[in-house]
Amino acid sequence: MSAKASQRTLVLIKPDAIQRGLSGAVISRLEGRGLRIVAMKMLHMDEAMAQRHYAVHEGKAFFKGLVEFITSSPIIAIVFEGQDAVEVVRRTMGETDPVKAQPGTIRGDYALDIGHNLVHGSDSLETAGKEIALFFNPGEILGYKRQIDAWIVGGQP
Ligand code: RTP
Ligand code: MG
Repeated sequence: MSAKASQRTLVLIKPDAIQRGLSGAVISRLEGRGLRIVAMKMLHMDEAMAQRHYAVHEGKAFFKGLVEFITSSPIIAIVFEGQDAVEVVRRTMGETDPVKAQPGTIRGDYALDIGHNLVHGSDSLETAGKEIALFFNPGEILGYKRQIDAWIVGGQP
């Protein structure tokens, strides 16, 4: 059986995850699903970039705090690629509010507070395209094949 088309999605390891030493755990959960990393960088977001990334939330009560939080310390931006990558990342992260996130999800296992929920994942394929372009030039995204993918999603090794 051949594999379905791959998707790419943006993941951010947020400042709290890095400060708490949970970057590896977050990446491991997502890699473990079978998704592959095709781009990754560490950076410290400035206010302008944070406002662009979270533009959809402008005007909401939590916007100012959200921008302050995401710019408070470095983050790691990652592009994950794979079958149904957008939805798989969102479900692996769990609900936005860690109180409601199922145990077994990243937020459900490691977080307590909605403002400190460790990880960001694009919420649709359309959003993913825009968010990836904010963090990465096309040349920084490295398409490649892995033999193991045939054992994860089928298709030719
Ligand atoms: P993210 O964008 O970070 O992946 O999270 P999400 O899609 O699950 O949640 P979203 O609705 O996009 O909200 C973005 C981030 O804003 C904070 N937030 N705080 N206090 C509140 O009511 C509230 N609502 C959202 C969260 O940190 C959330 O991740
Ligand atoms: Mg969101």
